[in-house]
This record gives sequence, C-alpha cells and structure tokens, in this order.
Amino acid sequence: MARVVAGLATSHVPAIGAAMDLGKTKESYWKPLFDGYEPARKWLADLNPDVIIMVYNDHGSAFSLEVIPTFAIGVAEKFLPADEGWGPRPVPAVHGHPGLAWHLAESLILNEFDMTIVNEMTVDHGLTVPLSIACGEQKNWPCPVIPLSVNVVQYPPPTGKRCFDLGRAIRKSVKTYDKDLKVVVFGTGGMSHQLHGERAGLINSEFDKNFLADLTRNPQRLIELPHIEYVREAGAEGIEMVMWLVMRGALDENAVEIYQHYHVPASNTATGLMILENQPLTV
Ligand code: DHB
Ligand code: FE
Repeated sequence: MARVVAGLATSHVPAIGAAMDLGKTKESYWKPLFDGYEPARKWLADLNPDVIIMVYNDHGSAFSLEVIPTFAIGVAEKFLPADEGWGPRPVPAVHGHPGLAWHLAESLILNEFDMTIVNEMTVDHGLTVPLSIACGEQKNWPCPVIPLSVNVVQYPPPTGKRCFDLGRAIRKSVKTYDKDLKVVVFGTGGMSHQLHGERAGLINSEFDKNFLADLTRNPQRLIELPHIEYVREAGAEGIEMVMWLVMRGALDENAVEIYQHYHVPASNTATGLMILENQPLTV
C-alpha cells in the first residue's frame, strides 16, 4: 500500500534557482538562506521517498491566460523545464509517475475534485525551484515527481478550505494505490510578497511567522482565512500560500513538525520552509 509519510512546504522564488544555476550560493546575500536548506536536504535524502507529489503553481508558462485550470495533474512520463525568458533552467528533466498520477486523477475526480488531466506540459520555477531547494544540485532528480498545479495567478483561486480538502482527498487516494510507495507531498509558493503596484516589495514577517506557527497545530485558522486577508496582509502573491494547505491536508492531524526555516529577503520575497512528518503507524 502506498502512503503519504511526510510533507515539505517551501517558497519557490526564481532567484533562488538562478543563484544555484549561477554558482552564487556561497555569496553573503545567499549563504544564510542556503545554510538553512542543508538540514532539509539531508532529511529528504535520508527519507529517500519513492514519489513526490508537487503541489505548485504555473506562472503563465505551461498555461497561458487562454486556459487556466484551477487544479491540474500531470500524468506524463516526463516534464521538461520551461523557458521563462532566459532559456530553460539547466536542471534535470522531471520524470513523472503515470501509474500513481492516473490513480490520483481517477480517485480525485470520482471524489468530486474535477482535476484537469495534463498529458504534456513544461514545468516552470514553481516546480523546479522547490526541487532544487530540497534536493540540491543533481544530475537526476532522486525520484519521480507528479506535478499538481493550482491556479493562484488569476482571480479567483480556490479557497484555503478547498485546498486543504484536496490534500485530504490526496491522502485518501494514495492509501488506495496498491504499490508499496513512500510518498512525500510538497506545498510550495509564498511567503509574503507582492511583485507589482504601489505595495511592490511588501513583506510581513509577523503574518508569515503566525502562518508557520499555526500550520501544524492550528490549520483551522488558516483554512478559514479569506483571500482578501492573504492579499491585504501577505501581498498579492502571498495568496500562493494556500498551496501549503494542500500539503497540510495530505498529512495526518497529529503530524509533527521536523524543521522550519524562515529568511528575509530572497529577491522580493520572504522565504519559508517547513517539514512535517506523519507519526509511524503503531499497529
Ligand atoms: C518572485 C517570487 C515569486 O513567487 C515568483 O513567482 C516570481 C518572482 C520574486 O520574489 O522575485
Ligand atoms: Fe510565484
């Protein structure tokens, strides 16, 4: 039986990927951020998952404004890094897991989450930067990755509650896949940031730290936060944080926090990383 064993949530700032690709991670601006990633990389390498379900958002790369799926799942064998204007990132291709991805598509849709099924797409910084953060520089990513995208770029995004409930449905679906797989669910995006307009550069560390503090033990407060509260407090792009709630929903109520890292700034953004683990089965 497959099972979700852990979750990792992290920001996906493109400049973090660029700092790695351009060999700048030891520079004084970047070093404190990357030092904080070391324990997470070690944790993931030790855990050695069989599959990652990557809950992320596309930024107009695979999905233009012509078609915007609220929730989409990639069922392909392979996803290439997108060209976001500077050429594709020099990172490995992402290998999917069509078996589990089709099982998820089927059971989520039959469970009334109407996923868009994606047979072909590229993956942008929303997916590749979290992989770089959690896995470091690699010739090949350590395991297959199932892209699960959430619309947070065009109003209206799904509610926090819908995202949390999607996580619950993912947890249930994984449990009914009949192969013995250790699955880690990633939630990505955030933390507070706004990239445009009069409030460009906005960072709200108090909001971010309260979000980090409540994610494990008091997710109900976050589930109930309306969009306008994210936008007001965490900036227009702070809404990306609803994707962390998919990860939280995919984990058990009594999941334990293993690690947390918060750093300001990376580019225009406050960055956060959190690891949660389910308690081992006692029976
Ligand atoms: C930045 C952050 C993002 O989440 C993003 O998608 C693009 C840019 C930034 O801080 O530069
Ligand atoms: Fe983003």
